[in-house]
Amino acid sequence: MTTNDYAEPAADLIDGRMPLLGFGTWQISNRAAPEVTAHALQVGYRHIDTATVYHNESGIGKALAASRLARESVFVTTKLPPDRAGRERRTLEESLAKLGLDYVDLWLIHWPPNGRAAPRVWEQFVKARQDGLARAIGVSNYSLRQIDELIEVTGVVPEVNQIRWGPPIYDPAMASGLQQRGIVLEGYSPFKVSNLSDPTLVSIASQHDATTAQVIVAWHIAHGFVVIPKSARRERIATNASGARIRLTAEEVTAIDGLSRVAGARSSRRLG
Ligand SMILES: NC(=O)c1ccc[n+]([C@@H]2O[C@H](COP(=O)([O-])OP(=O)(O)OC[C@H]3O[C@@H](n4cnc5c(N)ncnc54)[C@H](OP(=O)(O)O)[C@@H]3O)[C@@H](O)[C@H]2O)c1
Repeated sequence: MTTNDYAEPAADLIDGRMPLLGFGTWQISNRAAPEVTAHALQVGYRHIDTATVYHNESGIGKALAASRLARESVFVTTKLPPDRAGRERRTLEESLAKLGLDYVDLWLIHWPPNGRAAPRVWEQFVKARQDGLARAIGVSNYSLRQIDELIEVTGVVPEVNQIRWGPPIYDPAMASGLQQRGIVLEGYSPFKVSNLSDPTLVSIASQHDATTAQVIVAWHIAHGFVVIPKSARRERIATNASGARIRLTAEEVTAIDGLSRVAGARSSRRLG
């Protein structure tokens, strides 16, 4: 790597690459967002995750503008709230105006509208990608079944599924199901779903002179999962990111996989 940022490692999308490390911004207020996001960009994050419902897009837009980073060097995701079904295009245009961008790198359906796959909404996403307003399109909180319904009806595969994810809820069936369909697995709430005092994580962290939060980030990267940790604290914003540089051994990854409470994790792991 020639630069100091976290543009790599990255996952391949249809048109471009998605850095595996991103900065989560849920619960960062619009007021705090310019400074906090500027700090994240300064310490090297090159991927920012927001959503219409986070109400911080204009604050993030200010940080992006102030950073003077080339547009193509930062990956920006936003999400459509399910209750905006039927007003997809207008909602995306509002997001773009707030972010101060001509396009987002990734636009996601935030949740299945009314708990359903909603292929009509997905068709609008496909159109937005065709029109260049979103480089990549995907879903969030979708089951494999709901994803298959979108594919069956529209013939278009989501590029990403953003789901709650971390060692205790590691689900090999979901991971391999997404991989088989060519969909990038993006995990959210990596710390909230985890026990940062777990003895296995503590022991591995001590081997790397790291924190358990950094080990959780490193575990995602080792698997090729996207991870978007959030912090509003300057120190943690930087240290969480540097977890992406830790290289875990295969044994350490397997030990962390073993923290999963999801049925079938153990047997699927043995199948490789
Ligand atoms: N698609 C969806 O439905 C969905 C849902 C939830 C989240 N997301 C996205 O995923 C991102 C991450 O998820 P999240 O914000 O729910 O949870 P998270 O990143 O797992 O955890 C954030 C919490 O952990 C704390 N924290 C951060 N670094 C820490 C460290 N090194 N040690 C101890 N505590 C630490 C933060 O506090 P401080 O801020 O005080 O450091 C905050 O309370 C969100 O910000 C959002 O962008 C998407």
